[in-house]
Amino acid sequence: MSINRVKGTYDVLPNESYKWQALEDIIRQTLTLYNYKEMRTPMMEYSEVFHRQTELSDMVMKETYDFFDRGDRKLTLRPEGTAGVIRSYVENKLYTSQELEKIFYIGPNFRYERPQKGRYRQFYQFGVEAIGSVNPELDSELIILAYDFIRRLGLKGVKVKINTLGDDASRKAYQEALEHHFRPHVHELCKDCQERIDRNPLRILDCKIDQNQKVVKEAPVPLDHLNETSKAYFDEVLKNLNAVGISYEIAPKLVRGLDYYSHTVFEIEADIEGFGAQNVLGGGGRYQSLVKELGGPDLGGIGFACGMERLLLALEAEHIELKSEEVLDAYILVLDDALKITASKILYDLRHQGLQSDMNYSNKSFKSQLKHALKMNAKYLVILGQDEFKKGLVGIKDTKTEIQENVPITKISEYIREKVGK
Ligand code: HAM
Repeated sequence: MSINRVKGTYDVLPNESYKWQALEDIIRQTLTLYNYKEMRTPMMEYSEVFHRQTELSDMVMKETYDFFDRGDRKLTLRPEGTAGVIRSYVENKLYTSQELEKIFYIGPNFRYERPQKGRYRQFYQFGVEAIGSVNPELDSELIILAYDFIRRLGLKGVKVKINTLGDDASRKAYQEALEHHFRPHVHELCKDCQERIDRNPLRILDCKIDQNQKVVKEAPVPLDHLNETSKAYFDEVLKNLNAVGISYEIAPKLVRGLDYYSHTVFEIEADIEGFGAQNVLGGGGRYQSLVKELGGPDLGGIGFACGMERLLLALEAEHIELKSEEVLDAYILVLDDALKITASKILYDLRHQGLQSDMNYSNKSFKSQLKHALKMNAKYLVILGQDEFKKGLVGIKDTKTEIQENVPITKISEYIREKVGK
């Protein structure tokens, strides 16, 4: 019997992990530059962290992995990062230490979705949250950050789409307008949407079944229902983006699929060939009541998250290599079994001196050791043979130039360090 991976999951194999590490490096560098600090929260939470609202999104209603643990506690594997981060922010009273908490996170999330290219049941997100302040400059900072990050990756054909849902009053007015619009057409909608009218008509807009219906296409947009405060807030966000020179597109129909948003919402789309429907690399927005709903003070926040698999797929489609696969500085080839212990000592010293090095641990022929060394992209081969060893020497060969020199056994690390500039 062969045991396979769970549907909708994947393995990152040893020869692919460098891509993930390179992506994580750029994420950490960019976020540190913007003064965000990493936070790590558990992958499982009590279910009420996610299942708490009356206006539940489809994702939270239908796609979460919910289970009872052996102590009969109802738990959920996190389907996204924001709610857990806010739970922790409240539980650890981070609001008492600072006015604004700037956080980022990297980790797996779980959604019971129909798997396809760019959509998995376990997927990685990196996300950013700035909690504790309601300020249009902060909304712009997040959009600038998302834009800058994508630019740093070297991805072209990327669009930032922005919209606003307005404050609570505007959002409520908009929801009423939607209900008014959809009510006479309720029977044209799918079964789920017939319920969504009462629960939250906003969710009809991102229904996968009804999205091409005329009545959905002609639905009112949030911009038409903004009060003066919300309009002024959005104008300020856009003014900041214009000042910095970020190119964006206002997307009047963008409402996002999660229920905690108000004011600014945005998405990053990649116009990449062969990407199809999974072209949304990331998205986010402002949330005004999440902190309070999870038992904290009345503080707002804003954040976004990007799907890391989608970023890697986009990079691949655009032929962008973030960092070439790791290479070894040195590889030791042992010509005589009696020298194996000496090889271990040299290897320990090379590594101690900060040189990435390896040797072959199976008793292989010289030819297959060499093959392995070249496969590992070793820059230098340290060749350990009896004749030279008796004279206190080893041969060191540059794999690029193929030049080989004899070097005193006590000077191996020094020689290679100088050559590779370490
Ligand atoms: P989201 O739009 O649900 O937002 O997810 C953000 C990104 O995660 C998506 O744009 C997509 O790239 C990726 N993603 C989502 N589901 C999958 C999947 N099944 N497979 C692969 N990638 C996926 C959020 O999660 C919010 N927490 C963002 C946020 C942070 N809002 C405020 N702060």
